[in-house]
Amino acid sequence: PSAPGHLLDLDDPVLREVLAAFETRRLDPNERLFEQGEPGRSLCLVQEGSLKLTRTTAAGRANLLAVLGPGDTVGEMSLLDGNERHGTVTALAPSVVLELSQARFDRWLLEQPAAAPLLLQHLSRRLRTSNDVIADLVFADVPTRVARLVLKLADQLGARDERDIVVVEHQLTQEELAQLVGAARETVNKALSNFARRGWLELGRRSLTVLDVDRLRRFAL
Ligand code: CMP
Repeated sequence: PSAPGHLLDLDDPVLREVLAAFETRRLDPNERLFEQGEPGRSLCLVQEGSLKLTRTTAAGRANLLAVLGPGDTVGEMSLLDGNERHGTVTALAPSVVLELSQARFDRWLLEQPAAAPLLLQHLSRRLRTSNDVIADLVFADVPTRVARLVLKLADQLGARDERDIVVVEHQLTQEELAQLVGAARETVNKALSNFARRGWLELGRRSLTVLDVDRLRRFAL
């Protein structure tokens, strides 16, 4: 099986053949990989860097759905159901993405018996995650949700040093952090400042440093 949460494990022998068909694409910060509403033309695998997935609602409100890091796959939904791209993906940092064209993807799915189970696993996992997000929105208070988000970003994008301090250069605005939590910016800022006052983390401009992962984890339970 691939790494937890990852559709494609690059060391998987099943992928050896299809990997040759991926094309490398480099993105600068703020450059778009694709846009909501476009037809899907490729499946993308993040190799380096970080990107954000935003979705504009029918009422015109932008919402940040996810931050993508190395190992994450994006863009399979429109290839599978023929609908338009469900959101816009934009680079947050200099990023390298591997892209597989729709034609190659379709062929892989038809010809490689291990491909469909991999994709179904991936979609099941995404549904589980989405259900957890819904449960958090219904049951968890904002400070708990903020603590969980910080831990998740640290896990996904953080660089840990030898003293167990994790620097997270997330590149997100306060508004975007608030969208990921699903709460007002002021409430999210208050929770972050509170954690900073307790010495659990340090806030930077579009970055944060987790100083006490254990305390934050206990709080997030
Ligand atoms: P697609 O619709 O082609 O383009 C947008 C992509 O975002 C979509 O495929 C999925 O790969 C991905 N996506 C959609 N919803 C989520 C989500 N909640 N979390 C992470 N990725 C998502």
